[in-house]
Amino acid sequence: MRVDILTLFPEMFESPLGCSTIKRAQEAHIVEIVLTNIRDFAQDKYRKVDDKPYGGGPGMVMMPGPVFDCFEHVQKLSPEKGRIILLTPQGQKFDQRKAAELSKENRLILISGKYEGFDERIRIGLQAEQISIGDYVLSGGELAAMVIIDAVVRLLPGVLGDENSAKDDSFSESAGGGLEYPQYTRPEVFRGLKVPEVLLSGDHKKIADWRRQQALERTQKWRPDLLKDDNKV
Ligand code: ADE
Repeated sequence: MRVDILTLFPEMFESPLGCSTIKRAQEAHIVEIVLTNIRDFAQDKYRKVDDKPYGGGPGMVMMPGPVFDCFEHVQKLSPEKGRIILLTPQGQKFDQRKAAELSKENRLILISGKYEGFDERIRIGLQAEQISIGDYVLSGGELAAMVIIDAVVRLLPGVLGDENSAKDDSFSESAGGGLEYPQYTRPEVFRGLKVPEVLLSGDHKKIADWRRQQALERTQKWRPDLLKDDNKV
């Protein structure tokens, strides 16, 4: 997969993309992540990329010119058209189902805006899909882009060591779209708390049944909203 990120702050991505799972996925050439600075496409000598909103009001709005020029430059870097995504709190809410869907694409083009938003002609002209990572307002789309990349890249084949390890994740299909079962590791007793007997039994069927039951119980208790049919992965 190739992921292009259009941003005013490429330096924000350095550490999150340079560590752990995403770093390994890039080194293994499973994903290629390319950052492009929208400011490099500013059209005046002050490198201006935002301006006051028509009609008045607070804040600054991203101008369409630099974003369009940057996008047109980026799109030509690869023959694959790509799925064009604008990060905005007005978008469709990101979830595990969306992460799984995006992980099937060959190319994603993520556009992060700063300031109070994008000129509406950016969304219309680029025919971009809009994604939000939750009902709160960030100071820019950069953190949202990182969240999406992290959730998507770990689903790409070969990224997680054990091919099964994303399968039982919370919200995944095999978890019924609900929460994951509780996990334990050594020691067997920690500060008086024992690992449940069934996990030491070696009886795989009993363990699987117990895990399914536990997953269901905690989903009912903590996230009953996930059990509604329209929320199922
Ligand atoms: N930009 C600002 N807030 C955002 C959010 N919640 N999701 C995606 N992009 C954003």
